[in-house]
Amino acid sequence: MARVMVIHGPNLNLLGTREPEWYGLRTLDEINGMIGEEAEALGLEVRTAQSNSEGGIVDLIHDAGEWAYAIVINPAGYTHTSVAIYDALKAVRLPAVEVHLSNIAARTEDFRHRSITAEACVGVVAGFQAHSYLLALRAVRYLLDERED
Ligand code: DQA
Repeated sequence: MARVMVIHGPNLNLLGTREPEWYGLRTLDEINGMIGEEAEALGLEVRTAQSNSEGGIVDLIHDAGEWAYAIVINPAGYTHTSVAIYDALKAVRLPAVEVHLSNIAARTEDFRHRSITAEACVGVVAGFQAHSYLLALRAVRYLLDERED
């Protein structure tokens, strides 16, 4: 079974109460449960992890480089600032799909419109709240199926 590492960035541990108009009402535990069910349905083995620190996320990407086929990542606030996360994604050379709960292109703050980390990813899913993660897993399944054709 293909292995996928799902990485949640800073402040996503507060989902459920944090700006629900943008991020929805589901907690991170609930979202991880949905991810687990979708992964099983797609024939993927999934691990999930959350870190509030940039270095913690870099370490998770390095670890994934040892065992995973692909990475699904919501770098959260680091999306817009982190060269270190961009470099880590490039370094491990795994296909990565970037996820956002909100549609960052439609947010009011200009700084959210640019994603540094997306430049190291195959593609981006944004704007479907918790469902964005499930669509990203489908994208990983698509990449695998393409590879196997
Ligand atoms: C986010 C969007 C980011 O701009 C923000 O800093 C987050 C969450 C999203 O999932 O919509 O923390 O990545």
